[in-house]
Amino acid sequence: MLSTDRSSQNSGHRYLPQIESSDATLSPNQQLLPLTAKVNSDDNLEIGGCEIKRLVEQYGSPLYVLDETTLRTACKQYRDGFAHYYGGESQVIYASKAWSCLAVCSIINSEGLGFDVVSGGEIYTALQAGVESQNLYFHGNNKSRSELELAVTTGCQIIVDNWLELKTLTTIAQESSTQPVKILLRLTPGIECHTHEYIRTGHLDSKFGFDPNQIEQVYAFVSNQPTLECLGIHAHIGSQIFERQPHQDVADVLVKWLKPAQDYGLPMTTLNVGGGLGICYTESDDPPSITEWVKAVSEAVETACNHHQISLPKLIAEPGRSLIGSACVTAYTVGSDKEVPEIRKYITVDGGMSDNPRPITYESVYRSLIANKMSAVLTETVTVAGKHCESGDVLIKDAALPKTEPGDILVVMTTGAYNYSMASNYNRIGRPAAILVNEGEANLIIERETYENLLERDRLPERLINSTNTPN
Ligand code: LLP
Repeated sequence: MLSTDRSSQNSGHRYLPQIESSDATLSPNQQLLPLTAKVNSDDNLEIGGCEIKRLVEQYGSPLYVLDETTLRTACKQYRDGFAHYYGGESQVIYASKAWSCLAVCSIINSEGLGFDVVSGGEIYTALQAGVESQNLYFHGNNKSRSELELAVTTGCQIIVDNWLELKTLTTIAQESSTQPVKILLRLTPGIECHTHEYIRTGHLDSKFGFDPNQIEQVYAFVSNQPTLECLGIHAHIGSQIFERQPHQDVADVLVKWLKPAQDYGLPMTTLNVGGGLGICYTESDDPPSITEWVKAVSEAVETACNHHQISLPKLIAEPGRSLIGSACVTAYTVGSDKEVPEIRKYITVDGGMSDNPRPITYESVYRSLIANKMSAVLTETVTVAGKHCESGDVLIKDAALPKTEPGDILVVMTTGAYNYSMASNYNRIGRPAAILVNEGEANLIIERETYENLLERDRLPERLINSTNTPN
């Protein structure tokens, strides 16, 4: 059992930035709670001027609560950072796999960012949200022909991953009225980084991108295709990365690979260094700020360009997690508990691995608090379990919490990235609603899935209707 109070647990933490010291130098990716978090006079957590408990009463539980200010601040820090530190043209594109829905795309579009999309569904969502197709960059290691046709006809830029795709795209481009088709080439940079093996992509043994040994063959092929306009190259080394060096290395490697393209007459002017900047999920995580990361990458590209004597390319970065991760929390309602003597105490919430599959998939660690008892002393160490029929459905091991009762609102922090987008209907549990909060206003941006929604695409063949339970 813990006998620490919240303030001591929080010393050096950034649970409540505004209450503690409002440290303006901290970037959203360095905070556990959204920037607008505060405790009101009823000892309740508010985000975006809205009390979490009241949101749950109104919109149900569990509930994703997305803070517009935090999301916009992160966009601005990336955008302003590149404008300040990079001498050439730059573009920040949001990796929409982190959370793709109309409201998120619309906010990020209004901040002037482009979009990394990886499926027909993500293209469609971004277009419906009003994003212009020239700001869409289409990724993926096995794009279907129909997805490629959609990308070509709508005018997206395509980040070509492999030979099959390159050849299919050449055929589509030849038959298309929208020519030339703008492409970038994805290369595997052979750079290791320290993150979970499932979210590492830049090492040589990766399913993504052309092998660098084939680079000249690819350049030769592309230079013979008048219907393709090759704008540049791309690499992405992985996700949730705290070191600066791997991205500096990738910048260097990519610049080096731009140079031989000139020998093939390819006017390549764009360099995309991918995403991957990490965020704080716990108080001991220590990622660089968005601005520090942007500075490091910009300087690395400029240094490499000077070294290889090429002019500064258009520089693209495609962050996902660091744009939206800390802008959202998930509010759950506490239900049953179980004390296993001498071992642990479980408390159970009304969601779990279906709304946040990251703990069970990557052993990701999260922090939580009780939103309706913000100043209560942390007296317990409990395991926060989900409600799914699966022992591994645990959201947080050893969470430091005050004594909880059924009906308390447990908030899990930093759930903006890869939570809603990876959510499922496991156990036929509908995905939660999502609410956008800003300056005291709350807007429903994703409806809660109902039982009817769960059956919407089920079809019952005629011969099964009224069939009796007759054994063979
Ligand atoms: N660009 C490419 C080509 C990517 O594959 C990714 C992420 C990003 C950009 C954005 O990376 P970020 O800035 O968000 O780190 N589901 C995993 C993360 C998978 C990341 C996939 N690619 C998780 O929940 O940790």
